[in-house]
Amino acid sequence: MANSLIFFLFPLALLISISTSIPNPNKPSSNSLTAHSVLTSHGFPIGLLPTDVLSYDLNHTSGHFSVNLGYPCRLTLPPDNYLATYSKKITGKIVENRIAELNGIRVRAFFQWWGITGIKINGDDLVFEVGMVTAKYPAKNFDESPQCEGKKRSSS
Ligand SMILES: *[C@@H]1O[C@H](CO)[C@@H](O)[C@H](O)[C@H]1NC(C)=O
Repeated sequence: MANSLIFFLFPLALLISISTSIPNPNKPSSNSLTAHSVLTSHGFPIGLLPTDVLSYDLNHTSGHFSVNLGYPCRLTLPPDNYLATYSKKITGKIVENRIAELNGIRVRAFFQWWGITGIKINGDDLVFEVGMVTAKYPAKNFDESPQCEGKKRSSS
């Protein structure tokens, strides 16, 4: 009985390991990898930036950055599926666990568009600031970079 279970499970495990080793066609370019690593080196998850990043600029002294996506981007943010737009160029100031002076990310909520002005890390949560108003979401929802909708439709 135990033997037949192993024979059943073994091909299954093999199948899983094969399918996970298939390269992801949506893998970000090396450019976007470095922009995303700026996020992680300051305590932020990569999912705050879409996969497609054309170039970025960071002043290591002041933390001021500018991210060039190449084109405006529309996407859906987890976990509540808020519609968000990213301008072609995102600017702000990043320091450990805090992004301020943010410009270029807008979220649709309560029938209006809101510009996200800052993002903070608070324990396991991300705190999004819209002026004086804040909204808290578990950071684990942002472990993966979303793909821009509209521009290039990926088939998957
Ligand atoms: C980086 O920021 C510092 C401090 O604000 C400033 O003095 C410096 O000129 C900036 N460097 C560049 C290349 O903009």
